[in-house]
Amino acid sequence: MTDKTPQIITVAAEVQRCIRHARANGRHIGLVPTMGALHEGHLSLVREAQRNCDFIAVTIFVNPTQFAPHEDFGKYPRPIENDLKLLGELGVDLVFMPHREELYPAHFSTFVLPPAVANRLEGESRPDHFQGVTTIVLKLFNLIPADAAFFGQKDYQQCQVIRQMAEDLNIPIEIRICPIVREPDGLAMSSRNRYLSQKERAQAVSLSQALEQAVRLVQSGTTETAIITESMRNILHNAGIEEIDYATVADAQTLDVLDRVDRPAVALVAARVGTTHLIDNMLLPTEST
Ligand code: PAF
Repeated sequence: MTDKTPQIITVAAEVQRCIRHARANGRHIGLVPTMGALHEGHLSLVREAQRNCDFIAVTIFVNPTQFAPHEDFGKYPRPIENDLKLLGELGVDLVFMPHREELYPAHFSTFVLPPAVANRLEGESRPDHFQGVTTIVLKLFNLIPADAAFFGQKDYQQCQVIRQMAEDLNIPIEIRICPIVREPDGLAMSSRNRYLSQKERAQAVSLSQALEQAVRLVQSGTTETAIITESMRNILHNAGIEEIDYATVADAQTLDVLDRVDRPAVALVAARVGTTHLIDNMLLPTEST
Protein backbone atom coordinates (compact mmCIF):
# COMPACT_ATOMS: atom_id res chain seq x y z
CA MET A 1 0.00 0.00 0.00
CA THR A 2 1.57 3.33 -1.04
CA ASP A 3 -1.03 5.87 0.09
CA LYS A 4 0.07 8.62 -2.29
CA THR A 5 -2.43 11.42 -2.85
CA PRO A 6 -3.29 11.37 -6.55
CA GLN A 7 -3.53 14.60 -8.47
CA ILE A 8 -7.26 15.24 -8.89
CA ILE A 9 -8.24 17.03 -12.09
CA THR A 10 -11.71 18.06 -13.22
CA VAL A 11 -10.83 20.24 -16.24
CA ALA A 12 -10.17 18.70 -19.68
CA ALA A 13 -7.45 21.18 -20.74
CA GLU A 14 -5.64 20.59 -17.46
CA VAL A 15 -5.58 16.81 -17.82
CA GLN A 16 -4.17 17.20 -21.34
CA ARG A 17 -1.43 19.49 -19.97
CA CYS A 18 -0.61 17.04 -17.21
CA ILE A 19 -0.36 14.06 -19.58
CA ARG A 20 1.82 16.07 -22.00
CA HIS A 21 4.12 16.84 -19.09
CA ALA A 22 4.29 13.17 -17.99
CA ARG A 23 5.06 12.14 -21.55
CA ALA A 24 7.77 14.78 -21.92
CA ASN A 25 9.35 13.24 -18.82
CA GLY A 26 9.45 9.85 -20.50
CA ARG A 27 6.64 8.30 -18.45
CA HIS A 28 4.80 5.25 -19.80
CA ILE A 29 1.13 6.10 -19.33
CA GLY A 30 -1.58 3.62 -18.33
CA LEU A 31 -5.25 4.64 -18.47
CA VAL A 32 -8.04 2.97 -16.48
CA PRO A 33 -11.44 4.41 -17.46
CA THR A 34 -14.18 3.81 -14.86
CA MET A 35 -17.56 5.08 -13.77
CA GLY A 36 -16.47 4.93 -10.13
CA ALA A 37 -18.12 2.83 -7.39
CA LEU A 38 -14.82 0.99 -7.45
CA HIS A 39 -14.51 -2.64 -6.41
CA GLU A 40 -11.78 -5.26 -6.54
CA GLY A 41 -12.36 -5.68 -10.30
CA HIS A 42 -11.40 -2.04 -10.95
CA LEU A 43 -8.50 -2.25 -8.52
CA SER A 44 -7.15 -5.28 -10.39
CA LEU A 45 -7.13 -3.15 -13.57
CA VAL A 46 -5.12 -0.46 -11.76
CA ARG A 47 -2.64 -3.05 -10.49
CA GLU A 48 -2.23 -4.50 -13.97
CA ALA A 49 -1.70 -0.97 -15.30
CA GLN A 50 0.96 -0.42 -12.62
CA ARG A 51 2.76 -3.61 -13.66
CA ASN A 52 2.98 -2.31 -17.22
CA CYS A 53 3.19 1.47 -16.95
CA ASP A 54 4.77 4.00 -14.60
CA PHE A 55 2.19 6.80 -14.71
CA ILE A 56 -1.39 5.72 -13.98
CA ALA A 57 -4.42 7.86 -14.81
CA VAL A 58 -7.84 6.69 -13.61
CA THR A 59 -10.99 8.41 -14.86
CA ILE A 60 -14.21 8.50 -12.86
CA PHE A 61 -17.18 9.67 -14.90
CA VAL A 62 -20.71 8.29 -14.92
CA ASN A 63 -21.26 8.76 -18.63
CA PRO A 64 -24.85 9.90 -19.30
CA THR A 65 -24.81 9.03 -23.02
CA GLN A 66 -24.49 5.30 -22.39
CA PHE A 67 -27.65 5.15 -20.26
CA ALA A 68 -31.15 5.02 -21.78
CA PRO A 69 -33.70 7.36 -20.15
CA HIS A 70 -35.28 4.46 -18.19
CA GLU A 71 -31.92 3.12 -16.94
CA ASP A 72 -30.11 3.75 -13.65
CA PHE A 73 -28.04 6.88 -14.48
CA GLY A 74 -29.65 8.86 -11.64
CA LYS A 75 -29.22 6.19 -9.01
CA TYR A 76 -25.85 4.85 -10.22
CA PRO A 77 -23.68 4.73 -7.06
CA ARG A 78 -21.21 7.62 -6.65
CA PRO A 79 -19.18 6.92 -3.48
CA ILE A 80 -16.49 9.35 -4.55
CA GLU A 81 -14.68 9.71 -1.20
CA ASN A 82 -14.22 5.98 -0.87
CA ASP A 83 -13.11 5.73 -4.53
CA LEU A 84 -10.43 8.38 -3.97
CA LYS A 85 -9.29 6.65 -0.79
CA LEU A 86 -8.87 3.33 -2.64
CA LEU A 87 -6.98 4.99 -5.50
CA GLY A 88 -4.77 6.83 -3.00
CA GLU A 89 -3.93 3.54 -1.29
CA LEU A 90 -2.94 2.07 -4.64
CA GLY A 91 -0.76 5.08 -5.40
CA VAL A 92 -2.26 6.14 -8.73
CA ASP A 93 -0.81 9.35 -10.16
CA LEU A 94 -3.85 11.12 -11.51
CA VAL A 95 -7.63 10.94 -11.17
CA PHE A 96 -9.66 12.73 -13.83
CA MET A 97 -13.22 13.29 -12.62
CA PRO A 98 -14.84 15.89 -14.85
CA HIS A 99 -18.27 17.42 -14.37
CA ARG A 100 -20.81 16.54 -17.02
CA GLU A 101 -20.59 19.98 -18.74
CA GLU A 102 -16.83 19.60 -19.13
CA LEU A 103 -17.28 16.64 -21.49
CA TYR A 104 -20.78 17.35 -22.78
CA PRO A 105 -21.21 21.11 -23.07
CA ALA A 106 -24.56 22.47 -24.21
CA HIS A 107 -23.65 22.46 -27.95
CA PHE A 108 -22.29 18.88 -27.91
CA SER A 109 -23.60 16.90 -30.90
CA THR A 110 -20.88 14.58 -32.26
CA PHE A 111 -21.12 10.85 -31.57
CA VAL A 112 -18.95 7.90 -32.59
CA LEU A 113 -20.84 5.24 -34.56
CA PRO A 114 -19.80 1.95 -32.94
CA PRO A 115 -18.57 -1.07 -34.94
CA ALA A 116 -20.86 -3.92 -36.03
CA VAL A 117 -20.05 -6.03 -32.98
CA ALA A 118 -22.09 -3.50 -30.96
CA ASN A 119 -25.35 -4.47 -32.71
CA ARG A 120 -25.80 -7.85 -31.01
CA LEU A 121 -26.55 -8.93 -27.42
CA GLU A 122 -26.51 -5.79 -25.23
CA GLY A 123 -26.98 -3.70 -28.37
CA GLU A 124 -30.36 -5.34 -29.03
CA SER A 125 -31.93 -4.29 -25.74
CA ARG A 126 -29.84 -1.12 -25.26
CA PRO A 127 -29.74 0.42 -28.78
CA ASP A 128 -27.73 3.59 -27.99
CA HIS A 129 -25.57 2.17 -25.22
CA PHE A 130 -22.44 1.41 -27.21
CA GLN A 131 -22.59 4.68 -29.11
CA GLY A 132 -22.35 6.33 -25.71
CA VAL A 133 -19.43 4.08 -24.79
CA THR A 134 -17.45 4.63 -28.01
CA THR A 135 -18.04 8.37 -27.79
CA ILE A 136 -16.86 8.75 -24.21
CA VAL A 137 -13.95 6.32 -24.59
CA LEU A 138 -12.67 8.13 -27.69
CA LYS A 139 -12.98 11.44 -25.84
CA LEU A 140 -10.99 10.00 -22.93
CA PHE A 141 -8.38 8.59 -25.33
CA ASN A 142 -8.02 12.06 -26.87
CA LEU A 143 -7.68 13.74 -23.48
CA ILE A 144 -5.36 11.06 -22.08
CA PRO A 145 -3.37 9.61 -24.99
CA ALA A 146 -2.01 6.73 -22.95
CA ASP A 147 0.33 3.96 -24.06
CA ALA A 148 -2.15 1.37 -22.86
CA ALA A 149 -5.75 1.37 -21.62
CA PHE A 150 -7.11 -1.33 -19.31
CA PHE A 151 -10.65 -2.76 -19.44
CA GLY A 152 -12.33 -5.65 -17.61
CA GLN A 153 -13.45 -8.79 -19.44
CA LYS A 154 -16.71 -8.68 -17.43
CA ASP A 155 -17.97 -6.25 -20.08
CA TYR A 156 -16.93 -8.63 -22.84
CA GLN A 157 -18.88 -6.99 -25.65
CA GLN A 158 -17.69 -3.54 -24.58
CA CYS A 159 -14.10 -4.82 -24.81
CA GLN A 160 -14.66 -6.07 -28.36
CA VAL A 161 -16.36 -2.80 -29.33
CA ILE A 162 -13.47 -0.72 -27.98
CA ARG A 163 -10.83 -2.99 -29.46
CA GLN A 164 -12.46 -2.77 -32.90
CA MET A 165 -12.91 1.01 -32.62
CA ALA A 166 -9.24 1.40 -31.72
CA GLU A 167 -8.25 -0.71 -34.72
CA ASP A 168 -10.67 0.95 -37.16
CA LEU A 169 -9.75 4.49 -36.11
CA ASN A 170 -5.98 3.84 -35.87
CA ILE A 171 -5.87 4.80 -32.21
CA PRO A 172 -2.28 4.29 -31.03
CA ILE A 173 -3.26 2.96 -27.61
CA GLU A 174 -2.82 -0.69 -26.70
CA ILE A 175 -6.14 -2.11 -25.48
CA ARG A 176 -5.57 -4.52 -22.59
CA ILE A 177 -8.37 -6.81 -21.45
CA CYS A 178 -8.02 -8.10 -17.90
CA PRO A 179 -9.65 -11.14 -16.28
CA ILE A 180 -12.95 -10.98 -14.41
CA VAL A 181 -12.64 -10.76 -10.63
CA ARG A 182 -15.21 -12.91 -8.85
CA GLU A 183 -16.66 -13.16 -5.35
CA PRO A 184 -15.73 -16.44 -3.57
CA ASP A 185 -19.01 -18.03 -4.76
CA GLY A 186 -18.34 -17.07 -8.38
CA LEU A 187 -20.47 -13.93 -8.82
CA ALA A 188 -18.64 -11.50 -11.09
CA MET A 189 -17.85 -8.28 -9.26
CA SER A 190 -19.90 -5.34 -10.50
CA SER A 191 -20.79 -1.90 -9.19
CA ARG A 192 -24.42 -2.91 -9.68
CA ASN A 193 -24.19 -5.87 -7.26
CA ARG A 194 -24.82 -3.40 -4.45
CA TYR A 195 -28.40 -2.97 -5.69
CA LEU A 196 -29.19 -6.64 -4.96
CA SER A 197 -31.32 -7.69 -1.99
CA GLN A 198 -30.19 -10.76 -0.05
CA LYS A 199 -32.57 -12.97 -2.04
CA GLU A 200 -31.45 -11.49 -5.37
CA ARG A 201 -27.79 -11.84 -4.39
CA ALA A 202 -28.41 -15.57 -3.87
CA GLN A 203 -30.11 -15.78 -7.28
CA ALA A 204 -27.36 -13.79 -9.01
CA VAL A 205 -24.75 -16.48 -8.47
CA SER A 206 -26.65 -18.62 -10.98
CA LEU A 207 -25.19 -16.49 -13.81
CA SER A 208 -21.68 -17.76 -13.14
CA GLN A 209 -23.03 -21.25 -12.41
CA ALA A 210 -24.70 -21.30 -15.82
CA LEU A 211 -21.43 -20.27 -17.47
CA GLU A 212 -19.44 -22.87 -15.53
CA GLN A 213 -21.90 -25.46 -16.78
CA ALA A 214 -21.27 -24.28 -20.37
CA VAL A 215 -17.52 -24.70 -19.82
CA ARG A 216 -18.06 -28.18 -18.33
CA LEU A 217 -20.24 -29.27 -21.24
CA VAL A 218 -17.66 -28.17 -23.80
CA GLN A 219 -14.89 -29.82 -21.78
CA SER A 220 -16.83 -33.07 -21.87
CA GLY A 221 -17.19 -32.91 -25.64
CA THR A 222 -20.54 -31.16 -26.27
CA THR A 223 -20.24 -28.77 -29.18
CA GLU A 224 -23.91 -28.23 -30.07
CA THR A 225 -24.74 -24.80 -28.69
CA ALA A 226 -28.51 -25.51 -28.46
CA ILE A 227 -27.72 -28.06 -25.75
CA ILE A 228 -25.38 -25.68 -23.97
CA THR A 229 -27.76 -22.72 -23.99
CA GLU A 230 -30.71 -24.81 -22.85
CA SER A 231 -28.67 -26.03 -19.93
CA MET A 232 -27.62 -22.45 -19.06
CA ARG A 233 -31.24 -21.27 -19.21
CA ASN A 234 -32.38 -24.12 -16.95
CA ILE A 235 -29.88 -23.10 -14.30
CA LEU A 236 -31.06 -19.49 -14.41
CA HIS A 237 -34.76 -20.50 -14.34
CA ASN A 238 -34.19 -22.92 -11.46
CA ALA A 239 -32.63 -20.07 -9.48
CA GLY A 240 -35.85 -18.11 -9.95
CA ILE A 241 -34.57 -15.74 -12.64
CA GLU A 242 -37.39 -15.03 -15.04
CA GLU A 243 -36.07 -12.24 -17.24
CA ILE A 244 -33.18 -13.64 -19.23
CA ASP A 245 -31.99 -11.19 -21.91
CA TYR A 246 -29.69 -13.80 -23.41
CA ALA A 247 -27.83 -16.97 -22.57
CA THR A 248 -25.78 -17.71 -25.62
CA VAL A 249 -22.59 -19.00 -27.18
CA ALA A 250 -20.87 -16.69 -29.65
CA ASP A 251 -17.75 -16.29 -31.74
CA ALA A 252 -15.18 -14.83 -29.32
CA GLN A 253 -14.30 -11.95 -31.63
CA THR A 254 -17.34 -11.06 -33.75
CA LEU A 255 -19.95 -12.22 -31.20
CA ASP A 256 -21.86 -13.92 -34.02
CA VAL A 257 -24.09 -16.58 -32.46
CA LEU A 258 -22.73 -20.09 -33.12
CA ASP A 259 -24.52 -23.37 -33.79
CA ARG A 260 -21.42 -25.33 -32.84
CA VAL A 261 -18.37 -24.59 -30.74
CA ASP A 262 -15.93 -25.02 -33.61
CA ARG A 263 -13.73 -21.95 -33.09
CA PRO A 264 -12.70 -19.68 -30.18
CA ALA A 265 -16.02 -19.03 -28.45
CA VAL A 266 -17.47 -17.32 -25.43
CA ALA A 267 -20.59 -18.05 -23.39
CA LEU A 268 -22.46 -14.93 -22.34
CA VAL A 269 -25.44 -14.31 -20.10
CA ALA A 270 -27.48 -11.23 -19.26
CA ALA A 271 -30.47 -11.25 -16.97
CA ARG A 272 -32.57 -9.00 -14.83
CA VAL A 273 -32.31 -10.00 -11.19
CA GLY A 274 -35.02 -8.05 -9.43
CA THR A 275 -34.63 -4.72 -11.20
CA THR A 276 -30.86 -5.07 -11.68
CA HIS A 277 -29.37 -5.86 -15.09
CA LEU A 278 -26.43 -8.24 -14.63
CA ILE A 279 -24.06 -9.63 -17.25
CA ASP A 280 -21.29 -12.22 -17.15
CA ASN A 281 -19.28 -14.36 -19.55
CA MET A 282 -16.66 -17.11 -19.77
CA LEU A 283 -14.38 -18.08 -22.62
CA LEU A 284 -14.98 -21.66 -23.66
CA PRO A 285 -12.19 -24.18 -23.89
CA THR A 286 -10.92 -24.95 -27.36
CA GLU A 287 -9.81 -28.39 -28.49
CA SER A 288 -6.23 -27.67 -27.47
CA THR A 289 -7.09 -26.56 -23.89
O1 PAF B 1 -16.99 0.06 -18.21
C1 PAF B 1 -17.26 1.20 -17.79
O2 PAF B 1 -17.17 1.49 -16.60
C2 PAF B 1 -17.71 2.26 -18.78
O3 PAF B 1 -18.50 1.71 -19.78
C3 PAF B 1 -16.54 3.07 -19.37
C4 PAF B 1 -15.62 2.20 -20.21
C5 PAF B 1 -15.75 3.73 -18.27
C6 PAF B 1 -17.09 4.17 -20.29
O4 PAF B 1 -17.95 5.01 -19.61
